[in-house]
Amino acid sequence: MKNAIKKAVFPVAGMGTRFLPATKANPKEMLPVVDKPLIQYAVEEALAAGIEVLVFITGSNKRAIEDHFDKAYELENELELRGKTETLKLIQNIIPPHVTCVHIRQAEALGLGHAVGRAKAVIGDEAFAVILADDLIDDQASGCLSQMVQVFKEWQCSVLGVERIDPTETQSYGIVRSNSIGNNLGRVEEIVEKPKPEKAPSNLAVVGRYILTPKIFDKLDLVTPGAGGEIQLTDAIALLLKEQAVLSYEFSGKRYDCGSKLGYLIATVEQGLQHEELKEEFKAYLQGLILE
Ligand code: UTP
Repeated sequence: MKNAIKKAVFPVAGMGTRFLPATKANPKEMLPVVDKPLIQYAVEEALAAGIEVLVFITGSNKRAIEDHFDKAYELENELELRGKTETLKLIQNIIPPHVTCVHIRQAEALGLGHAVGRAKAVIGDEAFAVILADDLIDDQASGCLSQMVQVFKEWQCSVLGVERIDPTETQSYGIVRSNSIGNNLGRVEEIVEKPKPEKAPSNLAVVGRYILTPKIFDKLDLVTPGAGGEIQLTDAIALLLKEQAVLSYEFSGKRYDCGSKLGYLIATVEQGLQHEELKEEFKAYLQGLILE
């Protein structure tokens, strides 16, 4: 197994039912937060962590994602003709030239585990990252995935990005029980998908960042439909940790659950308040609203 993490899988084939009708013809991952789609935030985080191969697992009506990371000849010509050099740079430099995009189709949305399993042939025998774009993680210092890559470099095993959640919300997450080994790290002893609060082993939830060893593909082959009738990545990780060490890592940074409407609105407001062009006007607007 190679020492560095060079490939990242972006499962973007979910149905996005919580955002219908916005996601009827458009993927959830293309919803913009201020001026960038969610998937671009995720890709930028991966690039900052040194990823060189981006593997998108797409479903029906996901062409917008392919187009977003492709060259846009007409638009680029038009911007050049109009002398809009800055805007041109903005759309040309999303993916650096040394980075490759691979698009794989998940014919049916059979679950996150099934989606990740589609990447097996492209990943081969190396550890890789999985990023769920609907968890937007803002870490101005280094980026959540960069932190996790550092952990992998030191420990050479699977790493799950985790966060303490309100104990009443365990049914929305994969929940782990870990033994602390210091530095925000724990060795995972148990992982359960969407347990009821009274059955949850802790309130430590796995959010959308994973580093996984290639052994996960053997485990995914064994998994049968679990919670919600879907092939769950969590169930494959539960099998993996019987054989290999799996670490939980409480990353630093703020996570926005953009798969939910409220989380998405909060992300939009808070990112708007940080946006160079907009922050002053937007803040004044919000203050005005509160005083009304
Ligand atoms: P979610 O559990 O958020 O499901 O998937 P969803 O379909 O996207 O959204 P809702 O719950 O219906 O509103 C978590 C991640 O896994 C991907 C999704 O695209 C999302 O990034 N996923 C899920 C797949 O790629 N394939 C699947 O079969 C299921």
